[in-house]
Amino acid sequence: MNKIYLWGVIVAVTMLTITYMSVIGSKGGLNGDIVNMFAIGGAVALVVIIVFVIIKFVRQMQVDTADGELSEDNWDGIGEYYNAIPKGWAIMYLATMVYAMWYFVIGYPVNSYSQIGEYNEDVAAHNKKFEKKYASITGERLVDMGESVFLAECKVCHGLAADGIDGSAADLNVRLEFRTVKDVVINGSNNFLLGSENPMPDRYGLMNANKDYAPITDAEIDAVSAYVANGMSGEGADVFNGTCTACHGEDGKGMEYVAPNIAAFDITLVTNVLNHGKKGSIGSMPAFDRLNAKQKEAVSAYIVSLSKGE
Ligand code: HEC
Ligand code: HEC
Repeated sequence: MNKIYLWGVIVAVTMLTITYMSVIGSKGGLNGDIVNMFAIGGAVALVVIIVFVIIKFVRQMQVDTADGELSEDNWDGIGEYYNAIPKGWAIMYLATMVYAMWYFVIGYPVNSYSQIGEYNEDVAAHNKKFEKKYASITGERLVDMGESVFLAECKVCHGLAADGIDGSAADLNVRLEFRTVKDVVINGSNNFLLGSENPMPDRYGLMNANKDYAPITDAEIDAVSAYVANGMSGEGADVFNGTCTACHGEDGKGMEYVAPNIAAFDITLVTNVLNHGKKGSIGSMPAFDRLNAKQKEAVSAYIVSLSKGE
């Protein structure tokens, strides 16, 4: 008998013995459990099959001789036979080609699965759940939620105390800083603050009606900027009434579709800033697409509460 068969038998018997000792011979044994018996049966079958498949191929290597027609190419004595392409291989190759064409033309475009799409769907579903759960919260709880959004998203630029970190971003404890008002009056503003593209004209578009529509002067700009930055009080009231009230209203509280509230923060204004971002004399603030509607409302309520000193 060829040595290889002997080795096969030895390996098979050894493995079966180990299996027997570790499972059947151990305390408790198989316990008549049908699932365990199936598992053991499978293990035995695997051992036997593997051993004999290996033996078959090793034998083949030992005794097989090559036949067929040799090609003319020859590399350092290593030749090559003319062999027909194996049928299974050819079928697999063709099937892969057909599948690839199907996938390219129909499979992908029609099913149009994309990871980004799946992510967006998941986010939308989550937001729906979120908004349903928190739809009814108002007042204190809304402000609290807003504070946590602020700490997570806005603190990096506006600072823990929302004071704009020494001028790096807007100070949100006051509605408007002097420098912001002054810059806007001189250069105009186009930040979608009303939610639509309705810009404020620059200084050449602003006329001082108190003086028969004379262009606004540097001194008047300083005065009116101080007036707005002081919470609509002090000198400059005169300029404000002559130039700004037409759009911003008598008290600066703004008019829908015409001009935003510059006397106090309100939820609509902050939400518009979050939706569109803001570019001004201080710098640029990014839009916050990743916050959902309720979170925007909440953080806006928090900003509103800050300047009220709550
Ligand atoms: C023709 C109408 C009009 C007049 C007059 C006008 N504004 Fe405005 N103002 C607007 C509009 C519209 C916006 C919003 C622009 C935007 O979306 O960025 C705005 C925005 C502002 C802002 C920016 C608010 C912010 O949060 O950044 C300030 C400050 C302001 N106006 C101050 C004034 C002052 C002070 C005057 C008078 C000197 C004045 N405006 C006159 C229409 C006007
Ligand atoms: C990358 C830095 C950055 C982040 C993050 C940021 N902001 Fe801003 N924000 C700014 C800057 C800069 C300005 C001033 C823009 C200007 O007018 O020049 C500003 C302006 C604002 C204004 C407008 C103030 C005004 O007077 O019109 C509001 C409101 C605001 N931010 C709220 C928020 C909220 C709420 C968050 C968090 C969800 C936030 N910001 C996150 C940089 C930032």
